[in-house]
Amino acid sequence: MDRFKNKIALITGSSQGIGAACALRLAKDGCDIILNGHKFDERGEKLIADIKDLGRRVTFLEADLSKANAAIKLINDAVEVFGHLDILVNNAGVEKNACFWEVTEEDYDLIMNTNLKGVFFGIQSFVNYCRKNKLPGTVINMSSVHEEIAFPNFAAYCASKGGLMMLTRNLASELAQFNIRINNVAPGAVATPINRDLLDNKEQLEKVLQNIPLKRMGKPEEVAAVVAFLASDDAAYVTGSTYYVDGGLTYHYEEQ
Ligand code: NAI
Repeated sequence: MDRFKNKIALITGSSQGIGAACALRLAKDGCDIILNGHKFDERGEKLIADIKDLGRRVTFLEADLSKANAAIKLINDAVEVFGHLDILVNNAGVEKNACFWEVTEEDYDLIMNTNLKGVFFGIQSFVNYCRKNKLPGTVINMSSVHEEIAFPNFAAYCASKGGLMMLTRNLASELAQFNIRINNVAPGAVATPINRDLLDNKEQLEKVLQNIPLKRMGKPEEVAAVVAFLASDDAAYVTGSTYYVDGGLTYHYEEQ
C-alpha cells in the first residue's frame, strides 16, 4: 500500500510497544520513518532493519521529551533528516502507580512534563515549521481512555491525558486555518511493557478483562491501524476528535 507516498512521519517513544507498532504500520503503508527514544539501543536497531526491509527510509533521533527544549529540537532535527516532515505522532508517555496522597513532586513533574509539556512544545515547533513553509500537517497524540475515565492511583497520569484531550480540541480549532489536523487516539488496556505488572498478575488481569466487553487486551498493531487511518487522507475531515481503541471499555457499564 502506498497511501503515504512521499510522506515522512516522526513517532516519539518508538523503541517498543505502541510506538514501534505505529512506526511499522506507517512504513508498511509507504511512509518514511523517524524513530525516537531516550537512547538508541538494540530495539531501535531491530526496528530500523525491519523498516528498511519494507523498502522505506528510516533513522533514529535520541531526545528526552520531558524537556521542552529537547522536544523543539527534535522537530527541527527531524525536518533536516529527509527534508520535510508531514506526520507527527506524539506517542512517548509514562505512568506511575501511587495513591494520590503519596505522589511526589518529582513523579508529578516527570509525568506532566513527558505526557503534556513535551507534547505541547513539540506540536508548537511542528506548527511553526508548517506555517513557515506553508505546508499542511497531521498530528496524532497517544492519549488514553484515562482522558475520559477515572483510574485510581494514577491521578497525575489522568490529569496529563485529560490535559491532552483539551489541548487537541483547542488546537483543532486554532490550527484548521493552516490545514493542520490534530486528533487523539485513546487506547484501553494494550499488551506492552508499560503494563508488565498487570500482565504478570493473573488475578488482576482477569479482573481487568472482565470489565472489557471484548474480553481481551488490545494489540499494539490494533492501535497503530487507527493511527494510520488518522494520519491518512482518509481522515481528511477528522480533526479535534478522540478515537477509542479499547474493546468497548470506556462506555461499558455492567449492572451489578
Ligand atoms: P511503553 O512504555 O512500552 O512505551 C513508551 C515509550 O515511550 C518507551 O519507548 C519509552 O522509552 C518512551 N519514552 C518515555 N518517556 C520518554 C521521554 N521522556 N523521551 C523519549 N521517549 C520516552 O508504553 P506503551 O504502552 O507503548 O505506551 C505508549 C503510549 O500509549 C503512552 O503515551 C501511553 O500513555 C499510551 N497508552 C498505553 C496504554 C497501554 O495499555 N499500553 C493504554 C493507554 C495509553
